[in-house]
Amino acid sequence: MAITEIMERLKLATGVPVEAGPLPAGRSITSRFRLPTRKVVFTGLDIGTTKICAIIGEIDPSGNVTILGLASQPSQGLRRGIVINLEETVESIRVAIRKAENMAQVSVRDVFVGIAGGHIECQTVSATVEVANPERGITRMDVRRAIEAAVEGKVPMEREVLHQIPQQFTIDDGAILDPVGFSSRRLSVEVMLVTAAVTSAQNIIRAVSQARFRVSGIYLEPLASSLAILTEEQKELGVVMIDIGGGTSDIAIYVNGSVRYTGVVPHGGDAITEDISKVLKINRFDAENLKKRHGHCIPSAIDPRETIQVPGVLGEKPTVIKRELVAQVIEARMGEMLEMVKRRIEKLPFYEQVYGGIVFTGGTSLQQGICELGQRIFDRPCCHGVPTGLSGTASLASSSPIYSTGVGLVLYGLEHEREQAFLDGNAFGKIVTRLKSFIDWYG
Ligand SMILES: Nc1ncnc2c1ncn2[C@@H]1O[C@H](COP(=O)(O)OP(=O)(O)OP(=O)(O)O)[C@@H](O)[C@H]1O
Ligand SMILES: [Mg+2]
Repeated sequence: MAITEIMERLKLATGVPVEAGPLPAGRSITSRFRLPTRKVVFTGLDIGTTKICAIIGEIDPSGNVTILGLASQPSQGLRRGIVINLEETVESIRVAIRKAENMAQVSVRDVFVGIAGGHIECQTVSATVEVANPERGITRMDVRRAIEAAVEGKVPMEREVLHQIPQQFTIDDGAILDPVGFSSRRLSVEVMLVTAAVTSAQNIIRAVSQARFRVSGIYLEPLASSLAILTEEQKELGVVMIDIGGGTSDIAIYVNGSVRYTGVVPHGGDAITEDISKVLKINRFDAENLKKRHGHCIPSAIDPRETIQVPGVLGEKPTVIKRELVAQVIEARMGEMLEMVKRRIEKLPFYEQVYGGIVFTGGTSLQQGICELGQRIFDRPCCHGVPTGLSGTASLASSSPIYSTGVGLVLYGLEHEREQAFLDGNAFGKIVTRLKSFIDWYG
């Protein structure tokens, strides 16, 4: 059955809008979070390949998010999510946060920082444990033991656990989302285990600490972007979120409401700029401008007679070329990147259950024609995702796909408190303590 047909049937059967898209205007972005009892302020720090961006957001007890400050600095010291020049990264972090502080008129000490890069790995692990007291029902301690058993021995020394997200529990009666309180003799769990190279994670913490700030939590960038742009309906229906930045394309897949896969493909929009620069023999700065002003992913959407001026190099005169040519270069590279993402995800057992389509975000999603090209490659409905439902002076700026990760990191502040409450004082806490003690040592 064609996907469009399935979508149509679903629409008829459930009445749920199946087109993926941003949050409906006017709805609180934090509608599914456990809300704070008083106003809280969190700072998200997105250390991207092209920019380092600090966003300071305030969340009130009604769930309204006010963006108080936002500042972005060109990022010089990173390549594809990995710190390659510590000094430059530290300086950019310091300046970005200081500028955001000035705008927000608050002083920042703790930040939630994003992590991405080709070193991130995601796997599903599982285990079954005997419930300690089946008559009294499953306790949180049983859940923790099951998760610990699933993760135990699966993390090599050189890798660090970033997230262990329970995806599904099974009790004697079958699959269940939250097993606490149910009677059962055995409890099985499937956990999505996300790990990072220890050194890459430590370098990010080191850079933030040397800039004199403290890392409150590290969050995987594809999950952060998803927090900012995906609706619960999309996650229930099944959706692929692709955040295409300058150096990486971050992927997150949600099925039946929970995250089932995350991944990072080490390619992004900077490769397109590089290609334009090579083909037209112009410098990268001019190529970048040309891409943003005249670029398109679909050459056939451009009038073949339309021409554009290309700046000359080293004092030479500008030349005139067909705009279609730029689109051909973009189509080739963007197509290749999207094919790479497709190869990563199409074999996943739950990919067929992604009825909500593909949502593009990140700076490169601003490239005209990306949804049409995406539709052609994935054969699924594609749309743009941006943070919505924000207020405050910087809310307009932060509603760009460029800031999806940064806004998501602010929202993660709320989620993090809940996560910590669950992790504290339990046995499997020891798995995450390696990174935590590194943070404490710096803090
Ligand atoms: N209007 C536009 N049209 C096309 N591309 C754009 C546009 N605006 C920005 N970009 C591209 O978006 C990319 C930067 O996106 P973003 O800010 O999301 O990246 P990043 O977060 O710094 O990098 P990464 O996530 O890969 O570490 C650059 O390659 C830039 O050329
Ligand atoms: Mg990014």
